[in-house]
Amino acid sequence: MQKGQIQFEYEIYNSIEELLPEDKVLLEQARNVTSIAYAPYSKFLVGAAAMLENGAVVKGTNQENASYPVGICAERTLLGAAAMTHTNVPIITMAIAYNNLTGKSDVPVSPCGMCRQSLSEYENRTGKPIRLILSGMEGKIFIIENTGNLLPFSFSGDHLLGL
Ligand code: THU
Repeated sequence: MQKGQIQFEYEIYNSIEELLPEDKVLLEQARNVTSIAYAPYSKFLVGAAAMLENGAVVKGTNQENASYPVGICAERTLLGAAAMTHTNVPIITMAIAYNNLTGKSDVPVSPCGMCRQSLSEYENRTGKPIRLILSGMEGKIFIIENTGNLLPFSFSGDHLLGL
């Protein structure tokens, strides 16, 4: 018997002022678009902004539905928009923020499992890791160099092909 182990490092910042200028701008954009999220049911407004390899910035917000499972997260709204408007262009960095109208917004957001799978597919599809900036409207900020770190043992197209 052998044992495997997976661990990864991430960066922790105490405030947006500590970020690199380009990261600060991207996070500000993510925070700003929380105001146009459509989340009348959860009142948890999520905004995402991504810097693409070609310099374009693509944004997304969560889009809820009265039939709750129909809703879509900000990250996947963004990925769909990026795939349509900048097909096959890698995403270098994605900032994600939220404004919780019923509570505090000072703990970094953590993408849901479905979004981790979608982010992983996008990384595989474009061949480049997506760097993540995770935050609320204030408080600590986490930076993760590679979204794949958030989904160890991920299922991929290789499994379907038997590779
Ligand atoms: N949500 C996101 O958009 N992204 C996340 O990373 C976490 C959750 C949305 C889904 C739903 O509209 C609301 O936040 C509450 O779960």
